[in-house]
Amino acid sequence: MTAAPMTSDGSSGFDPAALAGRAVLAPLAGITDSPFRSVCRRHGAAMVWSEMLSAEALARDHGKTMRMAAFRPEERPVVLQLFGTRPAAFAAAIARLEGLAPDAFDLNFGCPAPKIVKHGGGSALLREPAAVAAIARAAVAATRRPVFAKIRSGWEVGGENAVEIARQLEQCGAAAIAVHGRTKSQLFAGAADWAVIGRVRQAVGVPVIGNGDVVSGTAARRMIAETGCDLVMVGRGALGNPWIFSEINDAVGPATTVAPARHIPWTERLVVITEHMDLMAADKGERRAVLEMRKHLGWYTKGIPGAAATRRELMTALTRERVMELLRALGHGGGISPDPERSP
Ligand SMILES: Cc1cc2nc3c(=O)[nH]c(=O)nc-3n(C[C@H](O)[C@H](O)[C@H](O)COP(=O)(O)O)c2cc1C
Repeated sequence: MTAAPMTSDGSSGFDPAALAGRAVLAPLAGITDSPFRSVCRRHGAAMVWSEMLSAEALARDHGKTMRMAAFRPEERPVVLQLFGTRPAAFAAAIARLEGLAPDAFDLNFGCPAPKIVKHGGGSALLREPAAVAAIARAAVAATRRPVFAKIRSGWEVGGENAVEIARQLEQCGAAAIAVHGRTKSQLFAGAADWAVIGRVRQAVGVPVIGNGDVVSGTAARRMIAETGCDLVMVGRGALGNPWIFSEINDAVGPATTVAPARHIPWTERLVVITEHMDLMAADKGERRAVLEMRKHLGWYTKGIPGAAATRRELMTALTRERVMELLRALGHGGGISPDPERSP
């Protein structure tokens, strides 16, 4: 497997202009596995992130974590994200993953989950700039591939230090910085603060990836206009809606007006759901695929009139055949209206 070129001139480093679009899929633990990443790439995601992977587990060659890091060639360019606290573990994890030849690595300095933060990882590192620097230096020294970092605006409101952390990451060799415009203490509540993304954009020379609340082409266009970010990263907006990436690609093009989101007919939706489930079954077997698809099926059927009863049945279905039967029956009502909850 050879890595896709990450720069337009073929040099090492990272040039967002070499990507085929400006919207990328965020890392989402428990969600952005290889099947979902493949689906998002097919619908225009310019680059896709893995779920966060434990640097300590990878350093030990832990089988399940190594399998989580695997990806299909069609997902490229693909970014593998690591979390942890020990610089040596990051370096060892990267050395193990080199064989997979990912297009880039990413360092998680944003996760607010108690199980990560209590060990000093994820967003807890935002309070330890020296530790962030040590991890970034170790990661950059361990590979010739681009190393990105994903940060939040800070630990808590009033203590936003994203600019300071981003400057330091750049000095340590980070090739791009993704900024989620919320502090750790805000978790996912309230509106993301895009102004901090703009401040980071002004402060560093490397590409900045804006993140938080991009749920439509209009929102992506506004984030780019307001912050100057090089790429927009979409997380929750892609759940049940991989079409958001082509919607964004259209919206951020040269046209002066943004066309309304395309209506996705149920038949088209069903094709994508089937592809998604079959990729999942190829990786995990039918039984696990059906169980793990449940959350996706809940998202894919959001906004469909009369889907609530079907959703309840989907949550207990145990075979692919039964899932398909339920989905086909749901489709007999025709297409679905664009979901008002997805409007900007
Ligand atoms: C279920 C879930 C899992 C997430 N997992 C990760 C993760 O593994 N690594 C990470 O850096 N961020 C993770 N995030 C944060 C997202 O990448 C993103 O920063 C956040 O959801 C804001 O973007 P959005 O408004 O587009 O969803 C997760 C968020 C959610 C909702």
